[in-house]
Amino acid sequence: MIPALLADTLAVLANAADPDGTTPNEPVAPTGNPAHGDYQWNFAFRLAKARKQNPRAVAESLVGQLHHPLIRKAEVAGPGFINLFLDDAAVARALAEQREVPQLGLPQGGSGKTVVIDYSSPNVAKRMHIGHMRSTHIGHALDRLHRAAGYSVIADNHIGDWGTQFGKLIVAWRYWHDGAAYAADAIGELERLYVLFGTRTKAVDGDDDETKASKQALIDAARTETVKLQKGDPDNLALWQQFMDVSMAEFNAVYARMGVKFDVTLGESHYRDMTDKVVEDLRRDGIAEASDGAWIVRFEENSLKNSPVIVQKRDGASNYTTTDLACLRYRIAQWNPDRILIVTDMRQQLVFNQLFAIARRWSIQTELIHTWFGMLVLPEGAMSTRAGNVIRLVDLFDEAVSRARAIVDEKAPHLPDAERADIADAVGIGSIRYADLCQHPQTDVTFTWEKMLSFEGNTAPYLLYSYARCCSLLAKAGEIPDVRAIRLEHPLERELALSILRLPESALAALNLSRPNLLADQIYDLANRVNRVYHDLPVLTGGDARASRLALLDCARNALRTGMEWLGLRVIDRM
Ligand code: ARG
Repeated sequence: MIPALLADTLAVLANAADPDGTTPNEPVAPTGNPAHGDYQWNFAFRLAKARKQNPRAVAESLVGQLHHPLIRKAEVAGPGFINLFLDDAAVARALAEQREVPQLGLPQGGSGKTVVIDYSSPNVAKRMHIGHMRSTHIGHALDRLHRAAGYSVIADNHIGDWGTQFGKLIVAWRYWHDGAAYAADAIGELERLYVLFGTRTKAVDGDDDETKASKQALIDAARTETVKLQKGDPDNLALWQQFMDVSMAEFNAVYARMGVKFDVTLGESHYRDMTDKVVEDLRRDGIAEASDGAWIVRFEENSLKNSPVIVQKRDGASNYTTTDLACLRYRIAQWNPDRILIVTDMRQQLVFNQLFAIARRWSIQTELIHTWFGMLVLPEGAMSTRAGNVIRLVDLFDEAVSRARAIVDEKAPHLPDAERADIADAVGIGSIRYADLCQHPQTDVTFTWEKMLSFEGNTAPYLLYSYARCCSLLAKAGEIPDVRAIRLEHPLERELALSILRLPESALAALNLSRPNLLADQIYDLANRVNRVYHDLPVLTGGDARASRLALLDCARNALRTGMEWLGLRVIDRM
C-alpha cells in the first residue's frame, strides 16, 4: 500500500504547512498516466484554497520539503498537482514487505470493530430467483472485504418469513395441495400453490359477480389465515414451520453452491414480539402520531417531507419499517456494532432513508449504510423460462456450469473427468458472480453468456486462467526464489509490481464505498500485466532475470488469488 507507506511523511508536511490543522490532508492516488508519475498528491489545491494562495506556489513549497526513500522525484505539474515518481528499488522492497504480511497489507481499520451485514434476505416460500442474486453477491463480497480488513462480521440473512404470503400459501395448501407432488419436490409444489393462488384470485375483465365473489373470498381467507398465524394459531404455525423448513433447505443448497455462509439467519419472524414495543416507544417519544386510526411518523427532512411512514396499521398490524426498527434495536443490543450495512435493490432507498431518519431521532450512533444496487437484466432468449416464471438461481447456475463444462472439455480434454467438473463449477459459478461484481453496483447489469464465459476481457474465466497460468509456470520452474530477488529493470516488470501493490488500495476503496467493482478493475489490470510479462519477457529462460521474474510472478499469483478470494471467487490452480 503505497499511500499508507507515504502517509506519515505527508502528514508531517501537511501539518507543518497548515499548523492550525483546519485543512484535511488527503492520501495520494494513482495517476492514470505514467508520464505524470506513479502517484499524485493534490493537497496543495485544498490548502491554497483555504489560504487564498496560489496553488502552484504552495505545491512548489511542499515539494521542496518532500523527502522519502520511496520517492525518486516529485514535481509540480499544471496548476498545482504534485506528481510522485517512485524509486524502483524501493518499490521492489515494498513488494517484498507486502509478500510477508497477511492480507497483502490491507490496513486493519476494522480491528476491534464489529459490523453487521444484512444481505441476500429473500422472501420465504418461493425458490430463490435471479432477483436475489445481486444482494447475495455484493453482500458476500463486502462481507469478505470487511473480514479481510479486520472487522468482526455478523452476516445476517434477514429473510422475509412472516408476511402475507403465508396466509395465501396456507389457503392454497388446504384446498389444492398434491401430496405425491409434495413428497417428490416440496419446494416445487409450494411454488405451484403460490402461483396458483395468484391466478385463482387475479381479477380478469369479464369476471361475473359470482367469480368476483369467490376470488374475493379466497383473498379474505388468506388475510384471516395470516392474522391467525400471527396470533399464534397452532395449526397455522405448524404449517408455517413446515414451509420454512422446505424453503430453508432450498436456500441452503443455493448458498452452498455459491460458497456463501451466514452467521445468523434472523428473519422478520424473529422480531414479531418486539414490534408492539417499538410502536409504544415511538408514541412515548413523540415520534409517531395518530392518523386516521393508524400510527405514522412524519419527517422534517426535505427529501422525506412528503413521505410519512405507517408504523402501525389501523388493524393493529405493524409493517416492514416497524420490523426493521425492532431489528435495528436488537442488533445494537446484541452485538453493539460500529456499522450496520444493509444490501438491497434500489427500490428500497426510501424505506431505508425513513428508517435511518427515525434512528437519528432515537440518537442511534451506529453508522447505518444502505448499499443499494441496480436491477439485473437478462437479454431476451438468454435462458428458456417456463412461461410466466422467473429464472431460478439453480437453473442459472446449472446452465453456466454446463456451458463452462463444454469449454473445459474442449480446451483441456487431457484432464481427469472429476477435475474438469470441478473447473467447470468454479468457472461457471464464478462467471456469474464476477459479471455481477465487476460493474458499478448502482447501474443495471445485463448478462450475456458469451461475454460472461469468455476467456478474454474482464471476465472470471480470464482472471482464473491468468492465475492458473502463473501457478503452472511456477510449478514448471520448480523453485520460487526469495522475494528479495526482485529487480524492476523492465517497464513491464515495474508496472506489474505497482499493480500488485495497488490491489489492497483498491480493496480499501471498494470496502469504503461499497463498490466491489473497484477491486475487480484492479484485479483485471493485474491479470493484464501478468500476461504482458508472461508473453513479452522470457521468464524460465530469462538468464540473470529469471529469479527476479519468478519471484515477481509469485507475488502476482498471491495477489491474484487474494483479490479473487476477497470477491468470493473460488480459485483453482490448474485449468
Ligand atoms: N426481504 C426483503 C426483500 O426481499 C429484503 C430485506 C432487507 N433487509 C432488511 N433489514 N429489511 O426485499
